[in-house]
Amino acid sequence: MTIAEDTAAAPTPAETRKPILEAKRLVKTFGRVVGLDGVSLQLYPGEVLAIIGDNGAGKSTLVKCLTGAEIPDEGQLFLDGEPISFKRPQDARAAGIETVYQNLAVSPALDVASNLFLGREVRKKGILGSLFRVVDSKGMRKMARDELTELGISTLQDVTVPVENLSGGQRQAVAVARAAAFGSKVVVLDEPTAALGVRESGQVLQLVKNLRDKGIPVILISHNMPQVFEVADRIHIQRLGKRAATITPQSHSMTDAVAIMTGARTA
Ligand SMILES: Nc1ncnc2c1ncn2[C@@H]1O[C@H](COP(=O)(O)OP(=O)(O)OP(=O)(O)O)[C@@H](O)[C@H]1O
Ligand SMILES: [Mg+2]
Repeated sequence: MTIAEDTAAAPTPAETRKPILEAKRLVKTFGRVVGLDGVSLQLYPGEVLAIIGDNGAGKSTLVKCLTGAEIPDEGQLFLDGEPISFKRPQDARAAGIETVYQNLAVSPALDVASNLFLGREVRKKGILGSLFRVVDSKGMRKMARDELTELGISTLQDVTVPVENLSGGQRQAVAVARAAAFGSKVVVLDEPTAALGVRESGQVLQLVKNLRDKGIPVILISHNMPQVFEVADRIHIQRLGKRAATITPQSHSMTDAVAIMTGARTA
């Protein structure tokens, strides 16, 4: 991507603030296939940033570079203004970047509370926890209930229900709640509503708004234009491995966004 193209992204008031997460000119190739061709992205505090683009435009590759699932060939990431690099997803997670991938990262046979704490189980106090590794189930259940209540997830009060008994939307809510818990700085969602019905999608979108209102910025990949325009503060448009534009629901219509996505017009 040329510098001229890069700065063509619509200036918005948000861009006078400092990004919490920033990518500068990321390049990622797979053999001869160019996944990302010099892509820059900014995520500001308190916003929902949607990433849209046609199939193969580089959305997932971009997000994978932000979350340690892919290592970019070139370019630089910044978190809170500091240069940072991730070698594996755990690195990004440790830095406070939580990702919910499309193929749900929940364990169906485990209950809601156990899913929320998967990999970070709370041990009982004292020798039972430190030596015998006994998990504090009661404590985790209470923390799980508190977390769900704080996120406004009201349909899920029984945290002892196995996740396989939940609806698709509720499962997705558990995955998002898991990402939002534990003091994360940024939550990244790749197509969180793709497999959901209208009502369930609505619940997940509400959850995204709740996260933002709680102060956690969200990056949301979606193909669903009405949803994007409902929930996003800004919209990063990928096209053929490049950032074609960054727009807002106020500056552009859905028709404009699709035209930019397909190359029928520029921003
Ligand atoms: N692991 C890989 N090996 C080879 N090519 C890859 C790999 N991952 C992505 N690509 C290629 O990089 C390009 C961008 O893919 P990416 O998955 O990022 O697109 P996308 O925008 O997420 O598309 P979709 O909407 O279909 O999910 C595509 O041409 C894809 O085939
Ligand atoms: Mg993808």
